[in-house]
Amino acid sequence: MKDEKEFLNHKSDFLVLIVDEGMKLCSDFISFLNDETSGHVKKVFKSEGFSGEYLETVVMNVNIGKIERICFVGIGNQDDLNLNRFGAVAGKVSQIVQSLGLSKVSYVYPDYLSFDAEMVSRELTYFSYYATYTFLDYKTEIKPKEEITIEEVEVLSPENILDDVMSGMDQGEIINEHVTHVRDLVNAPANYKTPVKFVDYIKSNKPKNVKMKVMGVKDLVKKGFGGLLSVARGSSEEPRFVILELNKKTNDNLTFCLVGKGVTFDAGGISLKPSKDMYEMKSDMGGAATVYGTISALAELGTENHVVALLPLTENLPDGNAQKPGDVITCYNGKTVEVLNTDAEGRLILADALAYACDKYKPNYLIDLATLTGAVVSTLGNNAAGVMSNDNEFVAGILISGQLVGEKCWELPLWDEYKVMVKSNLADVANIQKPARHAGTITAGAFLSNFVDEDVSWVHMDIAGTAWYDKDKPFKHSGASGFGVRLLIHYITNVWVN
Ligand code: BES
Ligand code: MN
Ligand code: ZN
Repeated sequence: MKDEKEFLNHKSDFLVLIVDEGMKLCSDFISFLNDETSGHVKKVFKSEGFSGEYLETVVMNVNIGKIERICFVGIGNQDDLNLNRFGAVAGKVSQIVQSLGLSKVSYVYPDYLSFDAEMVSRELTYFSYYATYTFLDYKTEIKPKEEITIEEVEVLSPENILDDVMSGMDQGEIINEHVTHVRDLVNAPANYKTPVKFVDYIKSNKPKNVKMKVMGVKDLVKKGFGGLLSVARGSSEEPRFVILELNKKTNDNLTFCLVGKGVTFDAGGISLKPSKDMYEMKSDMGGAATVYGTISALAELGTENHVVALLPLTENLPDGNAQKPGDVITCYNGKTVEVLNTDAEGRLILADALAYACDKYKPNYLIDLATLTGAVVSTLGNNAAGVMSNDNEFVAGILISGQLVGEKCWELPLWDEYKVMVKSNLADVANIQKPARHAGTITAGAFLSNFVDEDVSWVHMDIAGTAWYDKDKPFKHSGASGFGVRLLIHYITNVWVN
């Protein structure tokens, strides 16, 4: 658009204007629209009491230019602006669009607000799609209304920022596509995503420039993946270990290893879980899905960095062959673990994966994501991931990325006092802490620290509360959230060699 008012000639069923509180910054624009509608706009604002408060909306049927409806949505004061607000606005608007049975939304870029155009249009695009996610793969009878989602997002912008806006829209679309894959995988029933089926899915859905290697039982035995093999014993489904790799290590880039817990169903093993809500444990592969989604998105967005995703995949079930409480196993790095509770299985498969990542890739940055403890849900609810680290600077960066993209993390301490709590009388470490009810999330992190080389910068993210919601939240449907993909993309694409 040459002129900001030119958008009236653009055909749209649902045109959105983001306004500041009190509409001071966009007053010219509002007056122009008011004139075009013979005073209708201001009349409606008055009767509805609309002032542009954050998340306040008003929709008008208009008949100007090629515009069918205009939606005004408040973003609050310029001083309170942050990226999350644009996301929330887009989420809210998009659900209104959906409820009207429409599937396309057009934004006029709010260039009277000072903010980075690329970031804003990425956020608007991403959340427009994200908020109307549907998951109907397993229904054979679908009502037409259930199928309506946002299929197209436009951000109309003046020429001088068009390149930034277009690139932001592309990014938003790419990231959404991969987050949707993650949500679909996590929502999928466990019988459709056994380790072998999960591998097949990745094989047929990964970008070409991502290399894939899969290890089966023979390899795992040979290489000494004692944790993964021991957890898998109780299931007739075989475990797999998947390695996805983007780019190569060079002198000028950084190596990131992303480890994701992939328990495709966690019944607890012999330390069986209660049956109430046990079905939710189909989501216990959320970490694995997240690292797969992240590397796939990065492959399309582009990064110079060397990124490796490692996915230990298994079920955790009880049967005559299952590992037993009290068993001692040996993990990839040779450390022995006394398995006091077979339901603390995630840390056993992560132990192998973390040690393998350190051994094979010597990463500059090692991050693991895992739906690891119920305790993190008690501590932080669904609102933030619990993170622990051996590197203050690294974790500070992760917290900032999370804050920026609206995927909050909260740091918990990894002090020696907690490491002592997972010592075993019989083996090197025990897989649960003493006393059993104390510091469940931190002691899980403390356990994992035994499998990370001391000179490797590492962040552990417990996403048990954030990867899956029991109830709908604003703009976020219950079930799988895709939490973590945007945080990791933000961190990996913004960190550089110094
Ligand atoms: N997958 C669960 C953790 C979990 C619980 C994720 C609730 C999402 C929602 C994990 O394998 C587990 O069972 N952890 C135990 C550890 C305990 C035995 C030390 C837990 O949190 O109860
Ligand atoms: Mn468990
Ligand atoms: Zn688990």
